[in-house]
Amino acid sequence: MNKIHFIGAGQMVEAIIRAGINNGKLQAENITIEDIDPTRITRLTEKYAVTASTSLSNARLVVIAVRPQDNLTAVAKSILDRAPAEAIVISIIAGVTLAHLDTLLGGRHPIARIIPNTLTDTGYGFSGVVLNERVKATDIQDFVESFGKVLYLDERQLDIFTGFAIAGPNYIYYFIESLTDAGVLAGLPRSQATAVVLENLVGAVEMLKRSQLHPRQLLDINNSPAGVGMHGLYELNNSDFAAGLQRSVLAAVKRTTQLANE
Ligand SMILES: NC(=O)c1ccc[n+]([C@@H]2O[C@H](COP(=O)([O-])OP(=O)(O)OC[C@H]3O[C@@H](n4cnc5c(N)ncnc54)[C@H](OP(=O)(O)O)[C@@H]3O)[C@@H](O)[C@H]2O)c1
Repeated sequence: MNKIHFIGAGQMVEAIIRAGINNGKLQAENITIEDIDPTRITRLTEKYAVTASTSLSNARLVVIAVRPQDNLTAVAKSILDRAPAEAIVISIIAGVTLAHLDTLLGGRHPIARIIPNTLTDTGYGFSGVVLNERVKATDIQDFVESFGKVLYLDERQLDIFTGFAIAGPNYIYYFIESLTDAGVLAGLPRSQATAVVLENLVGAVEMLKRSQLHPRQLLDINNSPAGVGMHGLYELNNSDFAAGLQRSVLAAVKRTTQLANE
């Protein structure tokens, strides 16, 4: 009863398995997978030495990783038919609630919803987790922490978390691209502009962590009266930068909720 079984072995499952095996927190011999697409089975068994199986009798964790539009009712019925009642069912499907899963699974299983982060290979990034009353955080902690960090949330916060945190790297990638373009626009070669932006990004995060100061305090230290930095910030404020970013996050949260109801 120590196996992790994945139903659906798509992109997200591969990212989870790859990260966990590479960092030593998951063992290939404890992982079984099934997928209606045989090419996914071939790819994952060959690349990560996990096992293809349709038996759930030894599964401690059963991870549902099909897409929202796939036949979840059939997947749930197949779990009911095959898994021991104490098996913990983990769904990574965005928008499907614990109550809905519990109904489909006959009201007997410990169930967790996980919104996995997409930075799995790095060890950075928070996954969002909500639990039903039959499961404790310690029951699934090793698994969730094998592909990043974890935030335990109320279910009503999960859409907010998805639009803000899971979509989060997109905002950063876009910021990096835009700032690099600014360096090129001003006259630096792209390779140097890229190097500067990445170094400043990592260094700024490190400064915040080490100093424990608020970003506004570091801005204050860096911006002398009538100085270069203050002139730059003035234009950024004129550009609606902060409100634009905040509207973007709110739109992503709204879209998450819409998708859950479609
Ligand atoms: N938090 C995040 O950032 C994040 C990111 C990605 C995904 N997700 C969630 O993770 C889930 C999977 O996404 P994904 O991108 O990994 O999708 P994906 O690559 O399409 O993987 C889903 C796999 O499940 C297979 N499948 C469908 N129905 C099945 C069934 N009844 N039994 C067994 N296998 C079945 C599909 O096969 P076919 O292709 O042949 O149908 C496909 O190979 C989604 O629900 C999504 O909401 C979260």
